[in-house]
Amino acid sequence: MAILDITGLSKTFGSGELAVQALQNINLCISAGDLTALLGPSGSGKTTLLLCISLILEPTAGTIVFDDNTIYSNGWTDTDLRRLRREKVGFVFQTPNLIPFLTARENILFPLELVGVTGRKAQDRATELLEYMEVAHRSNYLPAFLSGGEQQRVSVARALANRPKLILADEPTAALDTARGKKVMEFLKKLAREHQTAVITVTHDIRMIEGFDHIYHLKDGQINSSKEDYK
Ligand SMILES: Nc1ncnc2c1ncn2[C@@H]1O[C@H](COP(=O)(O)OP(=O)(O)OP(=O)(O)O)[C@@H](O)[C@H]1O
Ligand SMILES: [Mg+2]
Repeated sequence: MAILDITGLSKTFGSGELAVQALQNINLCISAGDLTALLGPSGSGKTTLLLCISLILEPTAGTIVFDDNTIYSNGWTDTDLRRLRREKVGFVFQTPNLIPFLTARENILFPLELVGVTGRKAQDRATELLEYMEVAHRSNYLPAFLSGGEQQRVSVARALANRPKLILADEPTAALDTARGKKVMEFLKKLAREHQTAVITVTHDIRMIEGFDHIYHLKDGQINSSKEDYK
């Protein structure tokens, strides 16, 4: 079952002589529980593609069908993109970017509060996520007192808070050493396997994506190959 179906997606920044065609005719079909990696040189369009998928950046043309709803068809068709984003997509950034004056636990409670989950129910969910990501012992610390790997695991926990169907990660391991990076990736894999969450991650490091279902190479805004011809 496809959770995300993208056809003919293009994105041009600017216009006239200054126009940059960041994405050209991208087709991508992602099923629930799929682990997908996006590789490609700097400037090839990886972040732009993730931002379009996360409904943050408006494409220039194409179609995005997400969870059986057409969200974009040469223009947004859904008016409440924020709600969709909050409820269905989780984003993990290159650096953890946790809110510095909130503890690990409070950082996870925040997205729950945004969708109206508060009190005991929210606390229980935060505890469950902190345990799942093996950072429960650091619950009451501010981000500054956590290691880089712990911060990134809290940020994955935060992205998971509302049980999104899709997790998007832009170089989530880039700021970590190999061992800590691998651990974060292992959690993303576990999530896909145990909760059928689709994961799309950008990476520069192919050692991090062993066992992924799909590997796409972006070059000049186009997808060049999948795992099949990559082997
Ligand atoms: N807001 C913007 N305005 C104009 N051009 C942009 C904008 N964002 C990205 N671009 C251009 O679009 C192209 C794709 O950029 P993008 O950030 O998606 O690349 P990337 O593959 O993520 O690169 P990196 O590996 O360096 O993060 C680049 O040529 C970039 O300069
Ligand atoms: Mg990028």
